Amino acid sequence: MDRQSSPASVVEFGGLQIAFDDRVLVPRAWTIAQSRWAVDLLDGAPPGPVLELFAGAGHIGLAAVAATERALVMVDLNPAACDLARHNVEAAGLGARVEVREGRIDEVVAPGEVFGLIIADPPWVPSSGIDAFPEDPSIAIDGGDDGLDLARIACAVIDGHLAASGAAVLQLGTPEQVEALGAYLESGLGSDMRVVETRQFERGVLARLQR
Ligand SMILES: C[S@@+](CC[C@H](N)C(=O)[O-])C[C@H]1O[C@@H](n2cnc3c(N)ncnc32)[C@H](O)[C@@H]1O
Repeated sequence: MDRQSSPASVVEFGGLQIAFDDRVLVPRAWTIAQSRWAVDLLDGAPPGPVLELFAGAGHIGLAAVAATERALVMVDLNPAACDLARHNVEAAGLGARVEVREGRIDEVVAPGEVFGLIIADPPWVPSSGIDAFPEDPSIAIDGGDDGLDLARIACAVIDGHLAASGAAVLQLGTPEQVEALGAYLESGLGSDMRVVETRQFERGVLARLQR
């Protein structure tokens, strides 16, 4: 890792060795479900790389593409997360087809770029609730007043860069958040994307978005 960091811990995630430290979220075991759903959707997905928004240390996206031949573009604003992600890409032997982009999700995807599948894991804790997670960096969890500020931006990025017959798998905290985001897609964003399937887990919710 290039920049100043505390000693990294390593955890197994989807058969990969993932390094992380206290500047990012500890990889959450249940989120392998997001990788696995992406793997299932990649079978038959339109051509094009996978885009992972809010990648953190990169484990969800890496586990999704490791057993495929897809290229992967990972995006995160946090330089420390990007350093860890680059380390994890190399450790997985995937440097030839994975790119890590450091910056805001709405600034580092170029006009005209199209992806066959998009994974998104935005911060989704309402700002009023982040004190309940003192171990977690606020940049990784603070989703604004209703927890959906970053998820709404993600929807706009997905709408603009997802292949016509592609799918996105988005992670949120509660079914109510998924419902609110579904309403935003239609009436706020004016998108033809819809939430077409939701899967609920003890610690979070996954939603599949498609046109
Ligand atoms: C909920 S964490 C998910 C990280 C990783 N997927 C995981 O499971 O640990 C959200 C991530 O989004 C990043 N982030 C927050 N705002 C961002 C933005 N506007 N653009 C890009 N990344 C952002 C944070 O640095 C953090 O790594």
